[in-house]
Amino acid sequence: MTPVADLPLLDSFSALADATRCRLLWLLEQQELTVSEICGVLQLPQSTVSRHLKTLADAGWVSSRRDGTSRYYALASAGDEARRQIWALTRAHLAGRPGIEQDARRLSQVLAGRGRTSQAFFASAAGEWDHLREDLFGGQFAAQALVGLLPDDWVVGDLGCGTGPVLPLLASSVRRVIGVDGSDEMLAAARGRTAHLANVDLRRGSLEALPIDDHALDAVVMMLVLHHLPSPAAALTEAARVLKPGGRLLLVDMTPHEREAYRQQMGHVWLGFDADQVRRLCDQSGLVLRRLTEIVPNADAKGPTLFAATAVKPAADSFASSVVL
Ligand SMILES: C[S@@+](CC[C@H](N)C(=O)[O-])C[C@H]1O[C@@H](n2cnc3c(N)ncnc32)[C@H](O)[C@@H]1O
Repeated sequence: MTPVADLPLLDSFSALADATRCRLLWLLEQQELTVSEICGVLQLPQSTVSRHLKTLADAGWVSSRRDGTSRYYALASAGDEARRQIWALTRAHLAGRPGIEQDARRLSQVLAGRGRTSQAFFASAAGEWDHLREDLFGGQFAAQALVGLLPDDWVVGDLGCGTGPVLPLLASSVRRVIGVDGSDEMLAAARGRTAHLANVDLRRGSLEALPIDDHALDAVVMMLVLHHLPSPAAALTEAARVLKPGGRLLLVDMTPHEREAYRQQMGHVWLGFDADQVRRLCDQSGLVLRRLTEIVPNADAKGPTLFAATAVKPAADSFASSVVL
């Protein structure tokens, strides 16, 4: 049987039997802080703060972690139920005490001080920020991060997936991606690119007769494909068939251009599409165009300007109205 004197709970009590340590824990529950920040809030010398921190850490009330050359202290995540109750009771007793209110005010000043260096930096760097951002992190990270907004239970089709540049991006965020392409060579490259991704399913097939069941997809992507298709409406009608009611189509293609040579060089059938054409194609295919925006090209991009259009397959029991472009 455990002797009463060995109960770890007693250490918890003794560590809290000091008003300064309770204030300190209250602070560390609000924010991770360094020793010098704690000194600033509690207005105590560093040696005193360090001594209290050690007592609290030894009793398991405080944890710490390094961030570069700094060390931050925080209230340790609650252990057993008894400790949670002790701290809840202590916190309730501290609430509203004048000392705690002053600590809260000084804490906000300390936190405001943390942001001062970055405020000063942005005040002087607005003109260079875009360049610096690209220099530090490249130009692609935002698109990679934004796909995280897609619902993670979606099944998405990448129709005319080609070598699959979009597949890993989609696969990082949705349940399953089905890539379809008619070219064995392009599919082989896509397979190589996605071999490590268990939720990518590649199928050989025609966009005019998709190897996908009716209503199987939450969303469809057709990127740089439409201008290759003799009958864009036939492919969009197929896309509508495999979409669930309420499902979405994202179309990325070229705005109208005059580069006739693309017909011979790359087999383009159409020299781009304007908004009226895209709307008409959607109408013919049972889709409702919701939005069409031109994509701002990279400064070094050599091709025609692209657009991104979103369309929906109306839910069976609702009438989705087209937004005027
Ligand atoms: C220009 S690539 C674009 C690939 C990819 N979506 C991208 O963004 O890089 C067009 C792809 O569509 C495929 N494609 C064109 N017409 C097709 C059709 N009727 N059926 C199936 N795939 C087709 C081609 O094989 C090619 O891989």
